[in-house]
Amino acid sequence: MPVFQEIYRSPAGRVFQKKGNIMTGVARYFMITGVLSVLAGMIWGIQMSASGDHGLSPAHAHLNLLGWVTCAIYAVYYHVVPTASDGPVPVVHLAVTVSGLILIVPGIVMALTGQGETLAKLGSVLCLLSMVIFSFVVLKGAPSRVSSQAAKAS
Ligand code: HEM
Ligand code: HEM
Repeated sequence: MPVFQEIYRSPAGRVFQKKGNIMTGVARYFMITGVLSVLAGMIWGIQMSASGDHGLSPAHAHLNLLGWVTCAIYAVYYHVVPTASDGPVPVVHLAVTVSGLILIVPGIVMALTGQGETLAKLGSVLCLLSMVIFSFVVLKGAPSRVSSQAAKAS
């Protein structure tokens, strides 16, 4: 099967290869975070529907919105713009995003059940930081495509 390959050069001059139909690196980890979040979020949604208790729906909502929607958008961006994965920033971005998610969801549950808001506050600051980092990734510069070809997969 032919694999569509593109070679990009980042603003810093490093060369990146993208195989059009394969998601790799930080993009793949964001997508894995997304699908794990939405699987858990949908099971939680079905559990809420079945029990008739919608009390924790904001936590379910933000698991889906920050875990699935936001991370899937990050994943697609890193895939479509492979030079965005340049340097250590995307790895920090992934770590901050996953930490924020892990804190904010139980944090919202705790806030809703009167067990304090500290975790929710910490999680929300990390989620905001994640978006700030992403803004820098998006704004840091446009890649230049060096070459594009369809190659035969080995
Ligand atoms: C199997 C899939 C899902 C089920 C069964 C489900 C179920 C539910 C239920 C029962 C509620 C509470 C509704 C209420 O009390 O008014 C809710 C709220 C919500 N869900 Fe889901 N959900 C699912 C997937 C998703 C996904 C994938 C997303 C986002 C991408 C999402 C976003 C939301 C949001 C934003 C709310 C809050 C709505 C509001 O407060 O007005 N849900 N969901
Ligand atoms: C730092 C991140 C975020 C914080 C701290 C935050 C906080 C909140 C709060 C306090 C509410 C009101 C909940 C209630 O009245 O029960 C809310 C509702 C909502 N937020 Fe967020 N949010 C964040 C990110 C997002 C993102 C990224 C999306 C969409 C992609 C989103 C979509 C919504 C929606 C649809 C609602 C209404 C549904 C609901 O009441 O649960 N939020 N959010």
